[in-house]
Amino acid sequence: MVATQPVIDEQKLHAFMGKAVGDLAGASVIAMCAVGDRLGLFKTLASGGPASSAELAARAKVNERYAREWLGGMACAGYLTYDPAGKRFTLPPEQALALAQEASPVFVGGMYELFMAEIQPFGQVCEAFQKGGGVQQGVYPGDFWLGLERFTASWFENLLLQQWIPAVPHVEAKLRQGAVVADVGCGNGKALVKLAQAFPNSRFVGYDAFAPAIATATAKAKEAGVADRVQFQVRDVSKGLTEQYDLITTFDVVHDAVQPRALLKAIRQGLKRDGSYLLLDINCSDKLEENIGPLGAVFHGVSLFYCMTTSLAEHGEGLGTMGLPPSKVDELCKEAGFGSVRRLPLENPFNILYEVRA
Ligand SMILES: C[S@@+](CC[C@H](N)C(=O)[O-])C[C@H]1O[C@@H](n2cnc3c(N)ncnc32)[C@H](O)[C@@H]1O
Repeated sequence: MVATQPVIDEQKLHAFMGKAVGDLAGASVIAMCAVGDRLGLFKTLASGGPASSAELAARAKVNERYAREWLGGMACAGYLTYDPAGKRFTLPPEQALALAQEASPVFVGGMYELFMAEIQPFGQVCEAFQKGGGVQQGVYPGDFWLGLERFTASWFENLLLQQWIPAVPHVEAKLRQGAVVADVGCGNGKALVKLAQAFPNSRFVGYDAFAPAIATATAKAKEAGVADRVQFQVRDVSKGLTEQYDLITTFDVVHDAVQPRALLKAIRQGLKRDGSYLLLDINCSDKLEENIGPLGAVFHGVSLFYCMTTSLAEHGEGLGTMGLPPSKVDELCKEAGFGSVRRLPLENPFNILYEVRA
């Protein structure tokens, strides 16, 4: 059978080519932003004010030719403004908040670092498309963990104590009195260090299956002076917990897990009868058509290049970044033996926070 040639609508083609070029620009901008983040160029512009390429090069101790190319790209992308008369570039204050102010509520530098690290196993991801399997966590460079920590630091600095814990007043009261708390999938430990600093009567344990994250978390707790009340242990929690807790948390963990069902069962068994489990996961729908848009595209990308793929590498369930919408949280928590799942009333396009109880 001879395939009929589709009729090309020139206007639609034109519109799509505009979009394709925009996306290509976005990818180039991310790579340039990652350079600016790594070499402190945004921070130098924010602290030192407008600069020519020679001035930026001198202040940031980089080569002028490279600085000039980078500044040109960032100005074309609308990240910097350019004054042709003085040949100077300015980082406007709104952009500075997002690009130069570490842990501000809108800081995106960690995302650039994370993105560049997550696409490094590109060849292995393509191979997994053809042969199955996935990419193991240990394959990703150390920058992945630094980027992740800097990205989620903005939640733990701006939301954890200000919105998330106050959204469950009975949990806050217990933490004040003295509670035993576990953070499962604690990564580099930032959330527990913040909680320990805020609630001196409570005791905290962070678990992560990835040993290098636990080594970093342990060092961070020491540095913050809370090591007497915060411990970190390497543990695959899907194999069980040995203690019972007043509060268990998972921040962006369950959709990544190799065995999310076993993980939730272990959490259920590790929760005291009157305890609370705070589960933070991705804000998404179980209908693809409701996820269509830029955030949906970003989440699917993270899933392909990390979340789904690291789970499949271990023959896991591979839920993926968008694999845990509210309906699935409900289903998996009920299956694990929990009695109630409550979505806390917080407005956040990225995440949903649930209180899950026995
Ligand atoms: C996306 S990271 C989030 C880290 C941290 N909660 C944060 O927000 O920065 C997910 C973490 O969960 C850990 N993890 C996944 N499954 C686990 C399991 N079964 N037991 C312990 N840790 C697990 C991974 O090693 C990884 O560090």
